[in-house]
Amino acid sequence: MDRNLPLAQVDPEIHAAINAERRRQNEGLELIASENFVSRAVMEAAGSVMTNKYAEGYPGKRYYGGCDNVDVAERLAIERARALFGAEHANVQPHSGSSANMAVYFAMLRPGDKLMGLDLACGGHLTHGHRLSYSGRDFQVVSYGVNRETERLDYDEIAEIARRERPKLIVCGASAYSRVIDFPRFRAIADEVGAYLMADIAHIAGLVVTGLHPSPVPHAHFVTTTTHKTLRGPRAGLVLCKEEFAKEIDKSVFPGLQGGPLMHIIAAKAVAFREAATPAFASYQRQIVANAKRLSERLAGHGLRIVSGGTDNHVFLLDVGSIGLTGKVAEKALDHAGITANKNTIPFDPQPPMVASGVRIGTPAISSRGMAEAEMDEVAQLIHTVLRAPEDEATLSAVKAQVAALCSRFPLYPES
Ligand SMILES: Cc1ncc(COP(=O)(O)O)c(C=O)c1O
Repeated sequence: MDRNLPLAQVDPEIHAAINAERRRQNEGLELIASENFVSRAVMEAAGSVMTNKYAEGYPGKRYYGGCDNVDVAERLAIERARALFGAEHANVQPHSGSSANMAVYFAMLRPGDKLMGLDLACGGHLTHGHRLSYSGRDFQVVSYGVNRETERLDYDEIAEIARRERPKLIVCGASAYSRVIDFPRFRAIADEVGAYLMADIAHIAGLVVTGLHPSPVPHAHFVTTTTHKTLRGPRAGLVLCKEEFAKEIDKSVFPGLQGGPLMHIIAAKAVAFREAATPAFASYQRQIVANAKRLSERLAGHGLRIVSGGTDNHVFLLDVGSIGLTGKVAEKALDHAGITANKNTIPFDPQPPMVASGVRIGTPAISSRGMAEAEMDEVAQLIHTVLRAPEDEATLSAVKAQVAALCSRFPLYPES
């Protein structure tokens, strides 16, 4: 087959699926808190010829020839990550957030060691010790939750659990937690019981690098993140650590866990880190936070309960159980109306995870389109309309048309 033929000719089915996905992203309201829309520059690097290159090893110490150009990309990614986060060491090779976490665990823990993390049901991530993930299979897991009353982390209780259980590593960070995380307090708890502290800032990395959330870097032994959520880079992971752990972390990523790094994605991470250091990115992050605050306040004004009473960051949980719905029903109704969000358990949820009582809502993606406070008022109204009549097809169709009209004012990617 001619390698120079365009995708449309080589594979019309995949070409059509990509175009349909572009249309979906253009025309829908993306409220999934972990998603974002990368810049053209990031997309270009991610789709570049660097996908062709094998580069096992690290810059200057590769197992393959011809690595000069990919070395430039990886060195830039490392230097920019270190500067952006103020970290002593950065490993930019993890393929994902899960593998970044795995790299730290496998470097510091032996099978059967005790790992302490936030319970998935209270906002933690699968890789923080859930029994269905490697983290819950290979290690002994102790979980902490949030306070039933405040729905916030309860540091006295976390300290008590740590004293009782004496874990080897404590993970802080979350997938669905809307309040500021007290990293110095976590470090004090870890120090008291002789544990390592790992902060997983997958969700809030963009806020951290722009000073909108306190940084864990001075406090945690290890910081992991994804690069594709608020940070708005390609789909991938990153590990930051103190210099004293650099060798162990690098060995754990390669050859411990991975083979050849994805050099096109590492190049795209370098671009994203450069973008994240600009004043425009800082004002974008401020808008994410302002939008989340406004949207949560407006929804509360429509009579919907917000878990923990509000948000300090880019995400919040809507308790749809409070209006007699389940997360599952709400997610489906919103989806039919062109609004994408995910069902989510809320703390002490009476429903099982596949049904759930909450919907997780995030503003990174809609803020990337340029939407601001005025649009949040409209979005809140649209969500409210759907949730008051989740089974009414006419209502859902009418909202879908309004969603498309709103989105057309904030074009995303041009049609190809
Ligand atoms: C806190 C946290 N850590 C890790 C991950 C895993 O990232 P990935 O999906 O890239 O493996 C996520 C993803 O949702 C997350 O929210």
